[in-house]
Amino acid sequence: MELFIDTGAVSEVEEIASWGVLSGATTNPSLLAKEDGEPGDIIRKIADLVNGPTSAEVVSADAEGMIAEGQALRKLHDHVTVKVPFGPEGLKATRALTDDGAMVNMTLVFSPNQALLAASSGATFVSCFMGRLDDISVDSSKVLEEIVDVLRARDLESKVLAASIRHPEHMVTAASLGCDIATVPAKVFHQMLNHPLTTEGAAKFESDWKSRPEFGEWLSGLVAADKG
Ligand code: E4P
Repeated sequence: MELFIDTGAVSEVEEIASWGVLSGATTNPSLLAKEDGEPGDIIRKIADLVNGPTSAEVVSADAEGMIAEGQALRKLHDHVTVKVPFGPEGLKATRALTDDGAMVNMTLVFSPNQALLAASSGATFVSCFMGRLDDISVDSSKVLEEIVDVLRARDLESKVLAASIRHPEHMVTAASLGCDIATVPAKVFHQMLNHPLTTEGAAKFESDWKSRPEFGEWLSGLVAADKG
């Protein structure tokens, strides 16, 4: 499963991209509305940092407006993926944009039937929102499992993207179900780092090594010799 970052904050992308784990990014109007600066600059910077698909969302209510916005957003950066909300107008826009060669991320998908329509309209990515399903007491893992099964059974090319990730357990579920991508907030990336045995183990390695000061000198010498 590939990992995208879900944010409008360039500083968060800088940090997580430096770990070498990102293949792309997703933004949305709510995430961008929290940031200072021009949305186009932010999207370009994020796209440069992740060097992969970077979703920028249209906001028009009708297909014509979505298509015009999508075409303009694509010109911001080669990596821009047009994010289109699910619905009849979104499906029309997705078909037109993908026929024109755009990558489209169909967002706000909450059921296998919606995913089937999204994939049939040519969407590159179908975004299912786990956290928002859980918020209304619908089992997001079951919905996601059905979406993966339905798209695979039809041999549709769209990638299943797990979105609205709220905690590391969502990540494990999405990966186990065979999702192609998860888009993850920086907070959850940080939570994924943590395990008490890792912290404890690193401290023990450090103290054991320091108990033999000559080993430290040996390693420094090795590094110096390697650098020439
Ligand atoms: C990403 O594409 C979605 O817009 C995002 O994951 C939504 O997350 P939220 O439900 O936490 O707002």
